[in-house]
Amino acid sequence: MNNKQITLNIDKALAFVSKEQIFSQASSAQEANLLLENGTGQGNDFLGWLHLPYSIDHSTIDDIQKTAGLLRAKCEVVVVIGIGGSYLGAKAVIEALSGAFDSLTDKKPLVVYAGHNIGEDYLHELSEFLTGKPFGIINISKSGTTTEPALAFRILKKQLEEAAGKEEAKSRIVAVTDAARGALRTLADKEGYKTFVIPDNVGGRFSVLTPVGLLPVAVAGIDIRQLVAGAVSMEKATGTDVAFENNPAAIYAATRNLLYQQGKKIEILANFNPKLHYVSEWWKQLYGESEGKEHKGIFPAAVDFTTDLHSMGQWIQEGERTIFETVISVANPKYHVEVPNDGEDLDGLNYLAGKRVDYVNKMAELGTQIAHVDGGVPNIKIELPELNEYYLGALLYFFERACGISGYMLKVNPFDQPGVEAYKKNMFALLKKPGYENIQL
Ligand code: PA5
Repeated sequence: MNNKQITLNIDKALAFVSKEQIFSQASSAQEANLLLENGTGQGNDFLGWLHLPYSIDHSTIDDIQKTAGLLRAKCEVVVVIGIGGSYLGAKAVIEALSGAFDSLTDKKPLVVYAGHNIGEDYLHELSEFLTGKPFGIINISKSGTTTEPALAFRILKKQLEEAAGKEEAKSRIVAVTDAARGALRTLADKEGYKTFVIPDNVGGRFSVLTPVGLLPVAVAGIDIRQLVAGAVSMEKATGTDVAFENNPAAIYAATRNLLYQQGKKIEILANFNPKLHYVSEWWKQLYGESEGKEHKGIFPAAVDFTTDLHSMGQWIQEGERTIFETVISVANPKYHVEVPNDGEDLDGLNYLAGKRVDYVNKMAELGTQIAHVDGGVPNIKIELPELNEYYLGALLYFFERACGISGYMLKVNPFDQPGVEAYKKNMFALLKKPGYENIQL
């Protein structure tokens, strides 16, 4: 039962910014939320994500599930091709909700990724891995022209066609792209691939609840209706009709902006559950690409605890005091593992005998929080009752909504990304791409 909700706790940030200061931001946060709702802020042609959960077209969900079913029936491996917003959302959800060792079992289909780098060795090894296996491809690119996924698709399409024949290959390729524009749309229409549309008004990093995220997630056997239901619950909880003191997205946005104004330039997203690693990667893109512009913006960093307490823990405890920490905590694990008693107790762990491993983890979490706050690191906590589709959907939407509010509070356009073009222009000039001959490097 998902009758609880994600909670936000800022108590451990209050030694650094007072409740009064945070509440003094209420009207500015509400104004930012209204800019989103009324579509009157910068980048307002990219607000399609705002009411996406609530207004999602259920025939699209049915179609996604049907297509996922076909790929699941035909393929041992499904390669998801995409980069940035066309990759991280699906990877975040799949990693969070799959078994840690699923990829080493015979659970089918295995979802693997390509087009998120230009590693020649990576592509060679992927290609070797796919040899002899029935595989399929989900090719995701909103623009349809991004170099990394286009390159991977060209190579893997050839391999699939050679292995399975052109007709069969067609039935195992799905394209997720713009309704009308871009090279991938042209290719998909010409080849007759099954396609899904990324709405014009949804930017890549806000697209996890469109077919961009939902199709790969459904292929992995995850319940996308529950994911969307969780997002719907958070859409309601963060609406403009919710008072500031009850709106977790508004409070998070206000708190992090105040901390930023006080010199806390880096936000570290921490988790105590390794399955959340890629949620942090997704979050880094969401906030980094949305806020890092006009020489402003919190730098989003991430750590996995307790793993990184044995590496980055030193810096966080005693390095430059320009950081604050947001911890994603999962209240209840899915399974139950107790520390066994040992007659000899040579490792000295009998004091934990009979205790759950999660109890040890939670004490590590609490101990870390106290240590970091003592060390001058404000701490925000986001708690999920458990890690399932519903609460993950709520978490994703929570971060999206808060990002929109936060970006407007920072007075930037949270929905563009002009800076990502700079490297592309140089790369194309260096590669002698037609049209880039006159670029001076
Ligand atoms: O958030 C974004 O807009 C980017 O990360 C894009 O998603 C990424 O560059 C991939 O673009 P596309 O889907 O057009 O291939």
